[in-house]
Amino acid sequence: MPKTPSITGKTSLVGLIGWPVAHSLSPSMHNAAFAELGLDWAYVPLPVRPDDVAQALKGLAALSFVGANVTVPHKQAVMRYMDELSDSARITGAVNTIHYQNGKFSGYNTDAIGFLNSLKEANCDPQGMRVAVLGAGGAARAVVFALARAGADSITVLNRTAERGAFLVGDLAAAFPNSSLTFEALTPESLAVLDSTVDLVINSTSVGMYPHVEASPWPADVSMPANIIFCDLVYNPLETVFLARARAAGAKTIDGLGMLVHQGAYAFEKWTGQSPSIDVMRQACLSKLKSGNKQVSD
Ligand SMILES: NC(=O)c1ccc[n+]([C@@H]2O[C@H](COP(=O)([O-])OP(=O)(O)OC[C@H]3O[C@@H](n4cnc5c(N)ncnc54)[C@H](OP(=O)(O)O)[C@@H]3O)[C@@H](O)[C@H]2O)c1
Repeated sequence: MPKTPSITGKTSLVGLIGWPVAHSLSPSMHNAAFAELGLDWAYVPLPVRPDDVAQALKGLAALSFVGANVTVPHKQAVMRYMDELSDSARITGAVNTIHYQNGKFSGYNTDAIGFLNSLKEANCDPQGMRVAVLGAGGAARAVVFALARAGADSITVLNRTAERGAFLVGDLAAAFPNSSLTFEALTPESLAVLDSTVDLVINSTSVGMYPHVEASPWPADVSMPANIIFCDLVYNPLETVFLARARAAGAKTIDGLGMLVHQGAYAFEKWTGQSPSIDVMRQACLSKLKSGNKQVSD
């Protein structure tokens, strides 16, 4: 059990802005890492209604918070209040980490670097790889940004809603004119022919996430080739049906917890200037995931 931090007037504060935030893993993950480094810091969930984003940010500044993470539905809404944006936030169109320093808000998207570091940790270097990204929501934008930055040979976005997929590809292609970015409809037929054309498949849809744990973006009657690496951004459950079937087929799999932990670690470094223990953060998440509360989120 992590020690409960003793909070004083000197404690540095960070938190999570979202709606809802009651089931977030982030407070446990960050507080465990603060405790392990002996830092007088605390991380608190901050439920913010959709209409209250501007007031919440003023409140953060007024209350001398060092920063915050941002989750659904506020990742886009906070952007207009930032004094500066990192490339990752500007190009993906979303902020998930805020640092408040010298009276200014800096906005970052640490999902992209978190995703890349989770691949690296799993000994998967996307440079030169042919990659298929399933989904075209906020997480997919961060993943495509990260893959293009890392020098993937080609990136194919497959999405159920064609307009959204085509929009993501058009947007990111403008930011990465030298990358090969294409869009295809997410259908059983398009998945069936992937085996000869890709090295890595990433599920960036929400399909398979609790409570719909029986669902998979990859139909059961389409085989999963053992020569492809399958990665899922969903981490609740830790092993989705998508990953379980890929593993059963003999393929290498990468779950979504690594991305969650590494995006958190990068935010931690921005705020504190120190590197947290990835293992402590992962263990804190795992104990929450195993606690019986199935409703956890970032
Ligand atoms: N591991 C991590 O650190 C991490 C970080 C961020 C997100 N995530 C996870 O990534 C997932 C996506 O998050 P997000 O923020 O990108 O969500 P989002 O913006 O709401 O996008 C959801 C995506 O899933 C697709 N989708 C939803 N239901 C579908 C279905 N029944 N069949 C086919 N496609 C479907 C949507 O397609 P349409 O466009 O057709 O609706 C869209 O592409 C979530 O499970 C989230 O928990 C994990």
